Amino acid sequence: MIQKYTFGTPFETEAVVALLPAASDDLAFGRISTDDGFFFSYALGPDDKVYGLGEANRGIDKRGYLYVSYCADDPIHTEDKHSFYGAHNFIIISSMPDASKPDASPNAFGLFFDYPGAVTFDIGYSHRDLLTVSCDKLDLHLYVITGEGPYDIARQFRRIIGKSYIPPKFAFGYGQSRWGYATPDDFRKVADEHRRHDIPLDMIYMDIEYMDHYKDFTVDPQNFPDFSAFVAEMKQRGLRLIPIIDAGVKAEPGYRVYEEGVEKGYFCKREDGTKFEACVWPGTTHFPDFLNPKARKWFGEQYKVLLDAGIEGFWNDMNEPAIFFSAEGEAEIRTWMEKILQGELSFHSFDFSDHAKALANKPEDYCRFYHDLGGGRRVRHDQVHNLYGFNMSRAAGEAFARLAPGKGILMFSRASYIGMHRYSGLWTGDNMSWWSHILLNLKMLPSLNMCGFLYIGADLGGFGCDATEDLLLRWLALGVFTPLMRNHSAAGTREQEFYQFDHPEDFRHVIQVRYRLIPYLYSEYLKAARNDDLMFKPLAFVYPQDRIACNIEDQLILGNEAMIAPIYTQNAIGRPVYLPEEMMLVKFLPDGTLYQEILPAGHHFVEVALNEVPLFIRKNKKLPLVDAADRVAALDMKTMTYIGYPEAPYELVEE
Ligand code: GLC
Repeated sequence: MIQKYTFGTPFETEAVVALLPAASDDLAFGRISTDDGFFFSYALGPDDKVYGLGEANRGIDKRGYLYVSYCADDPIHTEDKHSFYGAHNFIIISSMPDASKPDASPNAFGLFFDYPGAVTFDIGYSHRDLLTVSCDKLDLHLYVITGEGPYDIARQFRRIIGKSYIPPKFAFGYGQSRWGYATPDDFRKVADEHRRHDIPLDMIYMDIEYMDHYKDFTVDPQNFPDFSAFVAEMKQRGLRLIPIIDAGVKAEPGYRVYEEGVEKGYFCKREDGTKFEACVWPGTTHFPDFLNPKARKWFGEQYKVLLDAGIEGFWNDMNEPAIFFSAEGEAEIRTWMEKILQGELSFHSFDFSDHAKALANKPEDYCRFYHDLGGGRRVRHDQVHNLYGFNMSRAAGEAFARLAPGKGILMFSRASYIGMHRYSGLWTGDNMSWWSHILLNLKMLPSLNMCGFLYIGADLGGFGCDATEDLLLRWLALGVFTPLMRNHSAAGTREQEFYQFDHPEDFRHVIQVRYRLIPYLYSEYLKAARNDDLMFKPLAFVYPQDRIACNIEDQLILGNEAMIAPIYTQNAIGRPVYLPEEMMLVKFLPDGTLYQEILPAGHHFVEVALNEVPLFIRKNKKLPLVDAADRVAALDMKTMTYIGYPEAPYELVEE
């Protein structure tokens, strides 16, 4: 059951699409105080777990930390961080099973705080046994969901937020990316190396260097005098180019998108009506007003020029929006420096670096510009900050439905709010080549699914820092199962295409395993999308009566048939795995054969070599496998066999 409580005059975020009547009952859980903004509190039981929050730090059980929903351009995902790129305000509070009532579901309820500004979730952080959720203004919808345990609650929530985005099937192939590919030969090299080593590849990503001076919807005229021909050349080889689009539009007279946006008044403005200016990759930019329906439509239309050139996928970036510094920030630091130079202020070198760093993504800057909602209504950005990236991808998604009806276009975004899942996938932004980030990647998967995001993945191998061959192989062995499987890294870091390392054959094997599993992964994805279900589930959702399973955070149920338990530690020869029931361990061996062994329920240590991919098949289930191919379109469904328990049924869902 879902009850909707409304406080004040909420900004309609359009996260929820179901029409729900106002709640008739008093709030059954927790207390709300409205003395100073909105403040919800709930006393957590000693064993209660808290799931949700989508793209957030720390565990699958969020208890024990403080999270702030406020889309943040922060690439350093250390344990102390409170905000990542997404803002997903849905949580489920669930008690542990009662050993004396083996058939009863755990008591659980879900809460969705539909509020587009900053929301603070203190989940047993200030006080171990207290959950508080607060925001500054008393203008929000609160949805309270009750049901039969956390899994049921997650699915009920999914039903009210609308169907998740379904990408085209090629998007389940492998993608190679790096910030730095600029010339056609850079892209050809990636294509050549993969084809030469017989390593499957479907997509090559184009980072900002493909553009003309980082101007959205342009290409560098020197490098790409005939862009359509280059797109066609790649397509001929079975490869799609996937360009990046940044939120900020370069302010440059003569640049069509800028000129049009200015003429139509579609850029965000300051209080005094002048256009807000921020420095991002292209230098001075303006931010399109994605919250204004006309501006959104206009921005969406801009993708046409790339669609017309044969492009079939995009990644939308810097859409928190990221601000390196604003015109105001720059003026402030100039004044500060002048005072130092004139001896009015004393200077400490650490002051300087603090000041310079504080220029980026300054909270004050988010209070300096407004969205024009039409009809004379406007809203200051900070109050709706979390909707910006959502509405950029919505602009594109709505335009694709008009410009390329029925044609699947791949799209994923960096910033997000619940609701964007209907238009787009997401990637989890700038991570690092750290072992701990493999585990963080794993833990976000079910939490994101709870919030509607199904087409998801991380920068495999890590974006920042230097990747090593073993780290990349282990990370790819997790990426084999994530809908978005993309190797991406930052300029200036060690290059991490497979051919930078010693053992191409190991990469071939791991990536081929992905292709062998694509019919299964796509089928489970389609089921999850169509049935408002999760593709990745915590063990607690499937084995709610098993106290140990409920406590496991580094294994996940994949689809309905499988369990994954990736290796995320350096130099490991394997890892401990807990099986809540008998399962079949399958190891994809480098010679293309399978190791299969039925393991009884309980604790095991499973050895997995660097070039093997482990997978567990649940008791009395099976899943399809096909022969690998160099691209998704070349997969031959006639080669399909099954692994697992032979007598089990499996329903394959295809497009
Ligand atoms: C941002 C993106 C990253 C991209 C870079 C350059 O940091 O998150 O993926 O490579 O910008 O465009």
